[in-house]
Amino acid sequence: MPLAPTVTTLTCFDCGNQQDAHHLTTVCAKCAMPLRVDLDLKPTRPETLIDSRIQSMWRYAAALPITAENAVTLVEGWTPLLEVADNVWVKDESRNPTGSFKSRGMSMAVSAAVALGAGRLVAPSAGNAAGALSAYGAAAGVPVVVAMPADTPRAFIDECNHYGAKVHLVDGTISDAGRFLAENRHPTDFDVSTLKEPYRVEGKKTMGYELYEQFGGELPEVVIYPTGGGTGLVGMWKAWNEMEAMGWIGSERPRLVSVQTAGCAPVVKAFESGAKYTGAWPNPITKAFGLRVPGPIGGFICLQALRETNGTAVAVAEKDMQAQTAALAAATGIDICPEGGAVWAAYLELKQRAWLNPDDRVVVFNTGTGLKYR
Ligand SMILES: Cc1ncc(COP(=O)(O)O)c(C=O)c1O
Repeated sequence: MPLAPTVTTLTCFDCGNQQDAHHLTTVCAKCAMPLRVDLDLKPTRPETLIDSRIQSMWRYAAALPITAENAVTLVEGWTPLLEVADNVWVKDESRNPTGSFKSRGMSMAVSAAVALGAGRLVAPSAGNAAGALSAYGAAAGVPVVVAMPADTPRAFIDECNHYGAKVHLVDGTISDAGRFLAENRHPTDFDVSTLKEPYRVEGKKTMGYELYEQFGGELPEVVIYPTGGGTGLVGMWKAWNEMEAMGWIGSERPRLVSVQTAGCAPVVKAFESGAKYTGAWPNPITKAFGLRVPGPIGGFICLQALRETNGTAVAVAEKDMQAQTAALAAATGIDICPEGGAVWAAYLELKQRAWLNPDDRVVVFNTGTGLKYR
């Protein structure tokens, strides 16, 4: 069986429609919204489920939809948690094989797509997802086509070429890149766009499991995360729901904070107005390219995760993002990317507003390397 035996079905995050998981699937057949992978995870002790000999996200394979034997892996995840101030840690995703947390999602998505018989893998990207897809496609021996905004920094483009992917540069944003791929589709193409296929979230959820292990079987009080398409937030929220179902934790959750920049903040706007869905953001502008996602299809799932965990959403000024990227890198020696700088700026703002309690344990995510943005 290509998928793990624990996989039961795919359920639409929005309308609840259920679909068979055992063939290649993108979005809900009824409403075209994102699908969730449902797993039959029985109550199990963490030490039974976790294979601590494996130094990657695949240590949680028993909670994943692909078995460790079927994994397309470059040894991703199990990234360090570095204490940078009293009760404040950076979860450093720059250490992943392709320099960002996108490695986790693409390891899983490529594993699932290959297991289910995909021909060619395609995705629009702000940069990091394209690099990760190119690398994991190469690891699996499957051709890859990516499309990125034409103003994407050179290093992201070089990275995809390095792994043998076909690269298209498109005027506009990631949404225009997605449109370009849809209009130029080949019959064997399988689209692994953020939340337009169900498995990238399954890779991202391992960040939620890692925090539990790294905090000695507990979760921190606050997790601050940069949001573009939203898979990181959604993945961790799903992990914690699974951990509760398996009896590892109760109903308590870290308060999730979504961070965007003022030049592209559809999730923050919808959160503040109480809307269920995000609206399209006109003229998105930010140098935190991963956050330049003007119409995230999974925005409503992010909003649900923020509200259910008593979290919040913060839009930081572009100049604060830039200043705090430099400041945190210089203060810590960690390879901070602009999205990580945005998170640090949001942390400082929440501290100043006293949204954070003095004894909260806070995790700020540095989602990738800063070195590709030059
Ligand atoms: C470094 C970095 N951080 C954060 C994000 C946003 O991630 P997501 O689209 O899963 O919300 C991206 C997406 O491209 C990214 O590259």
